[in-house]
Amino acid sequence: MKIIAAMSEDRVIGHGDGMPWDVPEEYEQYLELTRGTTLLMGRRSYEIFGSDSTADNLIVLSRSPQPVAGATVCRTLAAALDAAAAFGKPIFSGGGAKVYAQTIPLAAEMLLSTIKGDWRGDTYFPEFDPFDWKVTEERDEERYLFRRWVRRT
Ligand SMILES: NC(=O)c1ccc[n+]([C@@H]2O[C@H](COP(=O)([O-])OP(=O)(O)OC[C@H]3O[C@@H](n4cnc5c(N)ncnc54)[C@H](OP(=O)(O)O)[C@@H]3O)[C@@H](O)[C@H]2O)c1
Repeated sequence: MKIIAAMSEDRVIGHGDGMPWDVPEEYEQYLELTRGTTLLMGRRSYEIFGSDSTADNLIVLSRSPQPVAGATVCRTLAAALDAAAAFGKPIFSGGGAKVYAQTIPLAAEMLLSTIKGDWRGDTYFPEFDPFDWKVTEERDEERYLFRRWVRRT
């Protein structure tokens, strides 16, 4: 599993029903990186971003599932992981905070964009120990910094 997220320098990922910034080129990158994959999301994130998805398979976690057109809804993380594995495609965790907290321990890679500037929000990416990970790719774009973190074995 890979984690994919955009965050501020102090780990803000969300503000209300969205992100505090508008950086379309970073969002385009997210849509390209997750194109054709299996993307796992929490119910809140699905409501915000699900309709844009370029993933082949969307899996939505919810404890009170409503049927969702074009997505597989799962009541538990274990069921979501089974469903994701059955699709046989690369698996991404697309958040939000509650889902990142549960999936970072399972992930081998994290594709993280840091949005430049000062941003306020109400939802944060979980803290992780950078010593458990190494940066294998770094790209400094005008409005964000992209890093690929690979778990040290
Ligand atoms: N910057 C980024 O890259 C990024 C990416 C994604 C999201 N976000 C932001 O993050 C915020 C949303 O994050 P969030 O933490 O509030 O919500 P979330 O993680 O998207 O969704 C939480 C919901 O997922 C379901 N859920 C989570 N774990 C579950 C489990 N183990 N079993 C069953 N259901 C489970 C529950 O749905 P039910 O309540 O239906 O039971 C829970 O209320 C928004 O502000 C959004 O904009 C930012």
